[in-house]
Amino acid sequence: MVYNIYHPILQPPEGIGVERLILDCDPGHDDAIAILMAGLDEKLELLGITTVAGNSYLENTTMNALKVVEMAGLDVDVYAGCARPLLRDQIVAPEIHGSTGLEGAKLPTPKRQAEEKHAVDFIAEMVKAYPGEINLVATGPLTNVALFIIRYPDLVEKLKRIVMMAGGIAFGNVTPVAEFNVYADPEAANVVLRSSVEKVMAPLDVTHQAIMAAEEIERLRKTGSHILQTLADLLDFFRSTYLDLFDIDGAVLHDPCAVMYLIDPTIFECEDLYVEVELDGNLTYGQTVADIWKTMKMKPNVRVLKRIDRKAFFDRLFEDLEKLAVRK
Ligand code: BDR
Ligand code: CA
Repeated sequence: MVYNIYHPILQPPEGIGVERLILDCDPGHDDAIAILMAGLDEKLELLGITTVAGNSYLENTTMNALKVVEMAGLDVDVYAGCARPLLRDQIVAPEIHGSTGLEGAKLPTPKRQAEEKHAVDFIAEMVKAYPGEINLVATGPLTNVALFIIRYPDLVEKLKRIVMMAGGIAFGNVTPVAEFNVYADPEAANVVLRSSVEKVMAPLDVTHQAIMAAEEIERLRKTGSHILQTLADLLDFFRSTYLDLFDIDGAVLHDPCAVMYLIDPTIFECEDLYVEVELDGNLTYGQTVADIWKTMKMKPNVRVLKRIDRKAFFDRLFEDLEKLAVRK
């Protein structure tokens, strides 16, 4: 069916093209931007935010999600999930995101609290309510997502897809070959990659093409909006840790790439690949091993984002964030 925007009858039904999502995250500076995009972009309907331990401990990532929701005036509930990885010892990332997971600016004290329900049960409830319609976007370690798959095997097929910021094909960022979200819970990532549901993965290879430069952060500050100035402060903190640790001068917007895929997949060049997580290697624990040359003769199990149209990405991001300028 081709809809004609000028024809009074042939209008698309309300909500067509809108993607329903749950954002499973560990805020985290780039997670905070992902929350804002998910809550502000007209192409998306954010049903809830679920939190997981990752960049910081669960109490912190949950509090940070609540603070971001409060700051932006979003009407969305937050559900806390897993406080620890499935098997491995816990790691957190204060060297990147500060001791609370979201250092760099003072955010408002949230009025709402996290809901009683566990994140994994909330995901299940939503999948039951909207079979075939839920996009589960994961921007932290995959513990909650794996637990959902293990706890509710009959619901897995009823997810629309999982979109995850996870892994690195050519390089890692915690070890030479392992990316943080996968390294923080490789066994969970393994459960997810082996599941039958449609999967999309934004690895470091693509997220390192979405770096917000100092002038772009300044553009937020210059709007004069208190919220956008706060965001600029957060992003400058994130930028400074990347400069110290990786010699990268910019805020690497890993997690927004996963949300952007739902908003406009045409911004990305992708390839369907067979990807497994290394669980035994001494030097390679947590590596996402992608069979680029099909040497393993396996069916691809995940769509891997490879390249991004940087201009289109930032145009849409600013369009979304600048909606906050009119809010107090
Ligand atoms: C991922 O790790 C975290 O630090 C970021 O929030 C992102 O999800 C990048 O490796
Ligand atoms: Ca994250």
